[in-house]
Amino acid sequence: MLNQQNLTVNAAGHLAIAGVDALELAGRYGTPLYVLDEDMVRARMALYVRAMKEHLPAGSRPCYASKALCCKALCRMAQEEGMGLDVVSSGELYTALAADFPPEDICFHGNAKTEEDIHYAVSGGVGFIAADGEEELERIDRIAGALGVKQKVLLRVTPGIDPHTFAAVNTGVVDVKFGVPIPTGQALAVTERALGLQNICLAGFHCHIGSQIFEPGPFLLEVDVLTAFLAEVRERTGYTAPVLNLGGGFAVAYEEADGVPDCAGMIAAIGERLTQRCGEYTYPAPAVLMEPGRGIVAAAGVTLYTVQNVKTVPGGRCYAAVDGGMGDNPRYALYGSRYTALVADRAAEEKTHAVTLAGRCCESGDLIGEGVPLQEPHTGDTVAVLVTGAYNYSMASNYNRVPRPPIAALRGGESRLIVRRETLRDVAMFDL
Ligand code: LLP
Repeated sequence: MLNQQNLTVNAAGHLAIAGVDALELAGRYGTPLYVLDEDMVRARMALYVRAMKEHLPAGSRPCYASKALCCKALCRMAQEEGMGLDVVSSGELYTALAADFPPEDICFHGNAKTEEDIHYAVSGGVGFIAADGEEELERIDRIAGALGVKQKVLLRVTPGIDPHTFAAVNTGVVDVKFGVPIPTGQALAVTERALGLQNICLAGFHCHIGSQIFEPGPFLLEVDVLTAFLAEVRERTGYTAPVLNLGGGFAVAYEEADGVPDCAGMIAAIGERLTQRCGEYTYPAPAVLMEPGRGIVAAAGVTLYTVQNVKTVPGGRCYAAVDGGMGDNPRYALYGSRYTALVADRAAEEKTHAVTLAGRCCESGDLIGEGVPLQEPHTGDTVAVLVTGAYNYSMASNYNRVPRPPIAALRGGESRLIVRRETLRDVAMFDL
């Protein structure tokens, strides 16, 4: 089992999540089931809020990257715990507004926002729009002008940093679809353009270098490049940025070997480096925003499945086929991401088998993992896959017209649904 305090084995030998028996949850809500330890989510949110308040300039705060897990309940938790919110589509913005999240605490992202997206964000009163480039700045300026709004904007820049994470989440290098590169001189030119637009107010800059970053190093480099850029911008234009958004990317441990990243320590290191660099440039320290997603919700999530059948191919592998798969967790099929799993019925038993956890979709690549260490699996067992709180529900699909699972949240030892299970009627809902 992963070294997580909220995961224990109870007197019946079952896995307990935040003290609640996993088999009881599976019986009550059915499987597949996403379980979310709400107490842990809130504690993680509070930790980021506290660390950023303590170690970063006045006005600094974390904004929950809702792409990691977006539903109304999560938006409410973020608001109650004092976080801002990062949304990346009109759908995420709609969800936040429907949960009464204060629009002024929302930053709207995206590298290909439509006219409708921008109109919705500006008229919805979002605090910031992160503009991805010059064309978009002009579009925001035009739409804000038509709505009679002066829209606060952050310009997304790319610093030319490679945090050496996996390619699909590596966003800081120059040749990438996001943002305007600093090293090519384009970021400075676009900043000059932004300062000339009437209906936008350039509040500062945004940068996200990637995900699953375990060490402070890449973030410190990000601070170095961005503060040098801020100083250059000031020298060329006289503009001083009040806000610097450093993006998300704090890693989580998916397997025992991963080690647990010290996010408060990383934030402290970022604060120290920022103070140092701002001192060197005699630059007024900007308020820092950061956008943790995975770091907030991943470890709080466990997915429960029921084993439908077990087969061992002579000379081959042992398969346990479950009632979910790439529809509710596409991360192994997409990225080869490895997970820790266990048989919840016999959680204390030794893991004697290397199991291919197969999903129910009609393709052989639908796997949750290969060679996963597991107790001997039997048909009817409840298998728990750990650390599935981020980018599982939010990336789920109805492939093969399989309804998506519900999310049960645990708080103070009690469970409740925060997203209901989809029905067969739901999966055909849009058919005419
Ligand atoms: N801010 C921006 C602008 C981002 O693009 C992202 C993630 C975040 C914040 C949050 O990053 P986090 O703290 O969660 O690492 N589907 C992939 C992850 C894609 C992340 C994209 N952007 C996965 O399943 O690993």
